[in-house]
Amino acid sequence: MTDLSPHQPPAPPGSIPHADVEHRLRVTDTDPKAAKRAERQVASMFLLSVLFTILFVVSYIGIDKTTTIYIPVMGEVGALQVALGFTLGAAIFLIGAGAIQWAKKLMPDVEVVQQRHDQVSPEADTLEAAGQYERGKEESGFARYRMIRRTMIAAMALFPIPLVIMLRDLWVPTPDEVGKSPADILSTTLWHDGLRIVSDGTYRPVRPEDLPVGGLISGVPADLLEVEEAQGNLNARGKAAIILIRMDPADIRSQQGDGWDYQGILAYSKICTHVGCPIALYEQRTHHLLCPCHQSTFDLADSGEVVFGPAARRMPQLPIGVDEEGFIVARSDFAEPVGPSFWERG
Ligand code: FES
Repeated sequence: MTDLSPHQPPAPPGSIPHADVEHRLRVTDTDPKAAKRAERQVASMFLLSVLFTILFVVSYIGIDKTTTIYIPVMGEVGALQVALGFTLGAAIFLIGAGAIQWAKKLMPDVEVVQQRHDQVSPEADTLEAAGQYERGKEESGFARYRMIRRTMIAAMALFPIPLVIMLRDLWVPTPDEVGKSPADILSTTLWHDGLRIVSDGTYRPVRPEDLPVGGLISGVPADLLEVEEAQGNLNARGKAAIILIRMDPADIRSQQGDGWDYQGILAYSKICTHVGCPIALYEQRTHHLLCPCHQSTFDLADSGEVVFGPAARRMPQLPIGVDEEGFIVARSDFAEPVGPSFWERG
């Protein structure tokens, strides 16, 4: 039988010490002072992790996004990014390092072979497993090393805070969005009466004669590039992207508003109402629009209604006409929000 110190609990029932592995006692197994030192060391790591998590939050709030610092080799870099990366990295590292130190220096390190059955365990074994779990808890020192337990819980509890804080960066409001609710922002796009539709890519205004029956053009608002430059992001494009398709006016069974087409040309949002994939797979014979992500299918000859797939809402239609120079224009914004459903939507 392997010689165990008071810090080395006996092997679990059903286990026998590994015959081929000579067990060497660690200094923490035989010297209570060393064990105490190791306990403090591990607790310090967890405490430092707490400190770095707090520093992460302080950096996020206190460091200006435009501040830069010079780092050899890397050159001029954003101070905020460096501070966030360093503090979050240190907080995670110290939790891992503390756990490793705890396992190496204080948890039992006896090599054992456990005898196992290969069938479903009878109830008595299940109870035994529960008992082993409790013994494992005891042996790991989770109950015994109160300082470690508390500091580790504190470190783990604070650790998700940086992740929650970083969620804020998923959406930084542009100047014209400040003060509006997310629902208002998500419900409106750049489109308004008289705004020309330009082809996505060439940014040339579109005339009705550019679109033959059965054809499709991806369109965006004429002022999109200016807006993107001013806002510094692609959010406006994500909401305002449309497709223009043309069909025989006699094929149009219904629309979302009276006379929203122009001589058989219809404009629909390009953003799938399921989870937002851009769609441009149009089948001209059936007038169906197919989303490549999860196969939602919309009937563009029938108000963009869903005919197949997981999308729960029809594709929003944009009312269109032509201006005095003969270019296709929007007649208003969409009458209903584009893209996937969100919580404020009725
Ligand atoms: S995103 Fe279009 S079907 Fe899922």
